[in-house]
Order: sequence, then C-alpha cells, then structure tokens
Amino acid sequence: MAPSLLAADWSRLPEECSRAIRAGADWLHCDVMDGHFVDNITFGPQFVECLSKTNDIFLDVHLMIERPDHYLSRFIKAGADGITVHVEAAHDVGETLRRIRAARCQAGLALRPETALAEVRPYLDQIDLLLVMTVVPGFGGQALIPETLEKVREAREYREAHGLSYHIEVDGGITQETAAAATAAGANVLVAGSALFGAADMGAALAAMRGV
Ligand code: DX5
Ligand code: ZN
Repeated sequence: MAPSLLAADWSRLPEECSRAIRAGADWLHCDVMDGHFVDNITFGPQFVECLSKTNDIFLDVHLMIERPDHYLSRFIKAGADGITVHVEAAHDVGETLRRIRAARCQAGLALRPETALAEVRPYLDQIDLLLVMTVVPGFGGQALIPETLEKVREAREYREAHGLSYHIEVDGGITQETAAAATAAGANVLVAGSALFGAADMGAALAAMRGV
C-alpha cells in the first residue's frame, strides 16, 4: 500500500506523512512532475530529501520527467529508496535502470495507458517493479481506465512464464472497488492518493483496500 503524497495537504506535510504511516502505509509514493513529460509541476530532489530526513518509511519515487537520466543522481542522493522512470521519456532506459540498481535502489519502469507492454518487454528482466499507469499521468482524482488492467494481466502472465519476480504496481484511480479489480488482474502494489488522503479515517480506508 503506497499512499500518494500528491493528494496530501501540503500545508501540513509532516502530519500528513505521519497520518499515512500510522494508517499502515508500506511505502510513501512521491510523484515528481516537470511540466514537460506531464502537464503539471510538483517537486524535486530537495523535497524528497526533506521527506527522507524526517521519515524512515520506504520512499517510492515516480519520476514523470522528460530527462530522468539527467536528474537521477540527485534523487538517489536525496534518499529515494525506489526510483521509477517512464519508458516513454527521453533516455537510454537500460542504462538508467542499471544506474538505479548500481545505487542499491529498487528499479522501477512505468508505462502510460496508451503504451503497449511490448515497449517494456526488453527490460522486464532488469527491473524490480513495473508501474502500470491506470490513468493518464499528471493529476490525481481521475477515474481508472479499465483497459489498462488487461496490461496488468499480461505483465503477470509474462512474469510467470519467464520466472521473473518484479512487483506490479498500479497508479491512478485506485479505490476500494478498483483495487479489487486491479489485484485480481495481478497488481500487488497499490498507489492511492485521493481515496486515502481524502478519507476521514485513513487507517480504515487503507485496511479495506489491503483486505481486497
Ligand atoms: C498521477 C500520479 C498518481 C496520483 C494518483 O499522475 O502518478 O500517483 O497521485 O492519484 P489518485 O489516487 O487520486 O488517482
Ligand atoms: Zn505516481
């Protein structure tokens, strides 16, 4: 369970991190956006460093940026535990993944809803996590695109057929209802922003999602 800080109240960030951790979060999901790869701007390495200094929890950093290779070392230095880069971004994907692992971080590869699994297939033996975007990246609070779960199924089948062990993470529009469909399809890491931070009782909301 990886609550997405994008949906937190940033005017009280330390309390929001504690609320997620007390609620039972396994990871904190950090959405980095550069205004180029997606139509929104969030935060950079300095923000991740603040999170890392003040929390012990695993930081799952999702880079929605055009040049992940250029900024990679700054996010590693900031204390990211897992770094996920997009296959559609402008970089040498294999080389970026190799650098993430060399820094002893968990290497994740993400794909947008319109990108076919075939695009990431050459790298599936080089990753720890596959992030299947279940909405168009950029904003929280959107509805899950049901067709993306077909890709989750395909990714699970491929993993089993090839004896691989990457996590399958879904991100976008995850609620208690869609969590059931996503886990049935094969997802084992759920990112949720609005459904968790927007809940009056985040612990109950998180436990309900974990329960599916
Ligand atoms: C969207 C981000 C998500 C976002 C999910 O581009 O990658 O992590 O925070 O938000 P919800 O759960 O509200 O759809
Ligand atoms: Zn994300």
